Amino acid sequence: MATKTTPSSQPLKILFVASEVEGLVKTGGLADVAKSLPASLKAMGHDVRIAMPYYRKVAEREQGDTLLETVLYVPTQPEPVGYAVKRLYSGEVPVYALDAPQYFDRAELYAENNEGYADNGERFAFFSAATLDICEKLGFQPDIVHCNDWHTGLVPFLLRTRYADDAFFANTKSVITIHNAVFKGNFDYEQFRLIPELIQKRYVQAEMDSAHISMLKAGVAFADKINAVSPNYAAELLTELGSHGMAADFRNRSDDLYGIVNGCDYGDWNPETDPYIAQNYKANKVSVTRGKKACKRDLQQQVNLPVKDVPVYGMVCRLTEQKGIHYLLPILADFLVHDVQVVIVGSGDPVLAAKLRSISDAHPEKLAFVEAYNNPLAHCVEAGADFFMMPSEFEPCGLNQLYSLVYGTLPIVRAVGGLIDTVIDYDQTPQVATGFIFKAPTPEALLIKLQRSLLLYCQRPQEFKRLQQNAMAGRFEWDEAAELYVQMYNGQEHITAVKKHHPETV
Ligand code: GLC
Repeated sequence: MATKTTPSSQPLKILFVASEVEGLVKTGGLADVAKSLPASLKAMGHDVRIAMPYYRKVAEREQGDTLLETVLYVPTQPEPVGYAVKRLYSGEVPVYALDAPQYFDRAELYAENNEGYADNGERFAFFSAATLDICEKLGFQPDIVHCNDWHTGLVPFLLRTRYADDAFFANTKSVITIHNAVFKGNFDYEQFRLIPELIQKRYVQAEMDSAHISMLKAGVAFADKINAVSPNYAAELLTELGSHGMAADFRNRSDDLYGIVNGCDYGDWNPETDPYIAQNYKANKVSVTRGKKACKRDLQQQVNLPVKDVPVYGMVCRLTEQKGIHYLLPILADFLVHDVQVVIVGSGDPVLAAKLRSISDAHPEKLAFVEAYNNPLAHCVEAGADFFMMPSEFEPCGLNQLYSLVYGTLPIVRAVGGLIDTVIDYDQTPQVATGFIFKAPTPEALLIKLQRSLLLYCQRPQEFKRLQQNAMAGRFEWDEAAELYVQMYNGQEHITAVKKHHPETV
């Protein structure tokens, strides 16, 4: 990748700490960010390294050289914890994979059969401590340690306690990115035997209550800068509802709170080059119409729906309440009365899956539910559907709506988090609209927007095509997001509201 120097700073040494990285191991959108943001920062000329756990599921695990075999010494523990560091790569970015089999050599990353591992607090406390332990041992002195979500929340805490007077970290600043504040990493004190600092002195700002530490709260309280993955989510974090009960913690840090909308990886998600879809297409009306027609046929065949020229509504998500399935379920049968097809791909909560399965059994010609995490099929849904549903209860940024836009698949989203920073509503600003937005957290509000979109598709096909062109004209480039991150690292600018997608009227 070509190296270009950034206008906003000298090259920085950045240690990017994440619990998953797309290409190596992934369960959600955090992994996409942990792949793309370090890659863009590296392309700007910064020296970026990633630290992550060496899980059993890591792809190309066997190819990692062992860089270090060492121990984490904990003064209050009789025995130090032995571990190794393997070197992997995420593209051109070196990855330090922390190999501690007792914590990470397990079937899954966080949970099995929908139940979190009982020692998740200890596992990620170890990960946080070991991440800082390796820096001097590997001779990497970071200017910035960039943490992500609760798994890494103790890193800023340790920099301010264990390493507060350590000359090696004298110029190191920490940042924590909030991808999802509903996951707080709350664990009882017993899980923190590797972090005696938390036990020797009480840090109420890192406590959920007197018996539990919240690793996310620790990160928010002690990081130098905090950012949410969209400006609107940053604003929501200042409210009780939007922060899931952590408003006071975020308000205390509001001077250091930023909002930077995620980018989209157009290398992986681009209808012109996508290897998974039946026919590639470009962003002009003729090509989109032809390409999507072929992709729709292919999608219908893949999911066993009748091949016919009807509007198709797609949805790809983890089956959790966050994604708003509970708004869709009560009205799905009502919507299926129309001449439409719905394709839903996702896995997760077995109760939600069972409900979807029963609706699809009752409407086999109209609803296809594929209970799986299936990346190739996700690409085919983005390409073959006409609309993409994201009725999320909350959505820190959301990535699928960004994919939908570039595939000319109009997103129908709820007015929360990053969804309103990235989609422009047809009913508010028809000229520049790229999709549909509904506000009320109710099934009825979703149904009204679904019907509204269907009317547009059936009665005003030229207008529908114009919206597709609007959608495909926008770009959410990672390089631009990375530039904002560097400004934040340098404390240059307080980004409170960056609304980025205003396509020219087509
Ligand atoms: C989480 C959020 C999602 C966000 C992603 C990456 O998965 O739920 O909204 O896009 O992280 O930041």
